[in-house]
Amino acid sequence: RHPGWPAKLGPLRVPAGVLAVRPVRLRDAGEWSRVRLRDREHLERWEPTGIGPWPDRNAFWSWPSQWLALRGLARRGQCLPFTITVDGRFAGQITVGNVIRASLRSAWIGYWVSSDIVRGGVATGAVALVTDHVFDFGGLHRLEATVRPENTPSLRVLAKAGYRQEGLFERYLDVAGGWRDHFCYAVTKEETGDGLVSRLVAKGLAERV
Ligand code: ACO
Repeated sequence: RHPGWPAKLGPLRVPAGVLAVRPVRLRDAGEWSRVRLRDREHLERWEPTGIGPWPDRNAFWSWPSQWLALRGLARRGQCLPFTITVDGRFAGQITVGNVIRASLRSAWIGYWVSSDIVRGGVATGAVALVTDHVFDFGGLHRLEATVRPENTPSLRVLAKAGYRQEGLFERYLDVAGGWRDHFCYAVTKEETGDGLVSRLVAKGLAERV
């Protein structure tokens, strides 16, 4: 089992409401599918190219196998797959994946937020909560986030949360049907001081509740 897993993080008050993060559940199926079928425009161009049509991949019945796969990886210590909630309702996902231990102790972080509550500080708060958690309890030292240069909202999220831009990975990921360049952002534990959440609170961007 992964150190720091399972875990519930928050709550944190952000402009969109009361934000919390908890492990993905089988019963997320209904909301996960409803939001993702509605939000195809908002999500598809930023996500890894999938096999099969969007409506099939995001149908209610495709969640159980995804959830099982994520839970299996989490139990093997390779992934921390979280659901984001706002005011208790499903609001997106945030995942720490490809966890490498030994002398690297690093992983990637990725996230998406329901289109009806974007621009309310949800992703920034979730990134801060999860980053602090994996550094304090997950035994990790570095997190990496890769973002397409065109993805202005996600670049803002990482800058606000306290990640640094390290470089450009050319033709890095198969996203939306092609090999896309990605900026690499990262943060290591010693840069986070009292934690990324504390920094957001000090800047007035979030409040502990
Ligand atoms: N142009 C410029 N800035 C924008 C735009 C836009 N079109 N849209 C949003 N922003 C800004 C917001 O104003 C805000 O910045 P501010 O606080 O300085 O005003 C910032 O982008 C968004 O910050 P949050 O409110 O914390 O983030 P939000 O909860 O809206 O979620 C996210 C952002 C996750 C990128 C959401 O838009 C989304 O789900 N997008 C589709 C999927 C996606 O791109 N996921 C990220 C992939 S990269 C990765 O996972 C590492």
